[in-house]
Amino acid sequence: METSTGLAAPAADLADPRFWQLPAPARAAAFAELRRRPAPVFFGDPAAGRGFHALVRHADVVEASRTPAVFLSGPGVTTPEPPRWVRLVFGDSMVNLDDPRHAQLRRIVSRAFTPRLLGQVEEDIRRVATRLVDDVERRRPEDFVTSVAAELPFQVICTMMGIPEHPRRMILDQVNHASENIGVARPLRRRIRMPGRGLLALARMQGMVASIGRERRRRPTEDLISALVTADVDGRRLTGRELGAFFSLLLVAGVETTRNALAHGLHLLTAHPEQRALLLADLDGGLGGAVDEIIRHATPIIHFRRTLAVDHELGGLGGPLLRAGEKVALFFGSANRDETVFPDPDAFDITRTPNPHLGFGGGGPHYCIGAHLARQEMKVLFRELFARLPEVRSVGEPDIVPSNFDHRVRSLRFTF
Ligand code: HEM
Repeated sequence: METSTGLAAPAADLADPRFWQLPAPARAAAFAELRRRPAPVFFGDPAAGRGFHALVRHADVVEASRTPAVFLSGPGVTTPEPPRWVRLVFGDSMVNLDDPRHAQLRRIVSRAFTPRLLGQVEEDIRRVATRLVDDVERRRPEDFVTSVAAELPFQVICTMMGIPEHPRRMILDQVNHASENIGVARPLRRRIRMPGRGLLALARMQGMVASIGRERRRRPTEDLISALVTADVDGRRLTGRELGAFFSLLLVAGVETTRNALAHGLHLLTAHPEQRALLLADLDGGLGGAVDEIIRHATPIIHFRRTLAVDHELGGLGGPLLRAGEKVALFFGSANRDETVFPDPDAFDITRTPNPHLGFGGGGPHYCIGAHLARQEMKVLFRELFARLPEVRSVGEPDIVPSNFDHRVRSLRFTF
């Protein structure tokens, strides 16, 4: 790791997988120390062309997000980046594209996320949330993640897309296989075996969606797949491969994130009884603030990466120099604890106003397309849960999967 400022090297090494296994308070302290430095620290081995500048402050993450001509997504936004052949075989999803292809794809898929269509989805979210809470009352399951948090976003996206009931269980298994390896350090033997399994899962899922796409092209219905395969934006519609890539992105981006946010949310509202009492005193008035504070505090996506198109001085002329070809990692979680933006940043405060968190990204063209949907899902589920089971709470600590990519909760015991 390198510092250009003459300061001592930081104690933590963000490029070392062992860093991501440290307890949350130790990681938070390391990021707080990095935020106090005058310039981003480079982690990795610059001589070997490996590594990244860590953007840890709110202003830096916003600047990188909103200057897409300088901070490119095309070379890949996850660490490590997907191999080229994977991208060729499976097609690029929009997170890994720059304009003009990104803007074109985003215009096509945005039609699924208009307020009118999301208004229709709200009904479906309510129906699924009611069924899940009925099921909790009846079966008294032990794990909140599999029985509630993962189910809601998954069923909602499947219904939006128009996926029939019968293959859904199989698809959910494939999603879990496909995403279980992103950002997770594993012993070598498993590392070799796992990507094969993840890729096979992805291939199966995309094959299935492509075949539904062909069917809908012949006989369109009201669903999103029909809209995507019959859309004609700039004289173009989605190819089977693009459709498959988009569906995988929606499942991984929309299911994993929302499920983790819901699990962290239940745990935060258990660990902070005074905030929970505040929420229960005015559920409808408090849910909006609670949901955004959960996203800020838990920050389900830890980082995305960008690659410099040209030399750039961060923060304006005279700022730290980032060179063309270098990588930066946008640490959303650290930006969300930036003490220059959020007073008492470690406190969980559902009345925090304003709350300009970067949990859905720092703005700019890649800002989360599902942000409104995710907020809707969280509000509806917590409303149903707390109104019907006011004693509901997590038991013990969440089982967290150490990862540099997302704050993934494997399981969370709960009771009511
Ligand atoms: C709590 C839940 C969620 C969180 C925390 C979250 C977070 C994020 C973040 C941080 C980004 C990257 C923004 C950037 O680079 O500027 C992103 C992008 C994206 N998200 Fe979400 N997301 C959530 C839910 C969803 C849902 C429900 C969907 C869809 C159903 C979704 C679909 C996407 C897509 C398609 C992108 C890529 C957009 C693009 O590249 O243009 N997300 N999300």
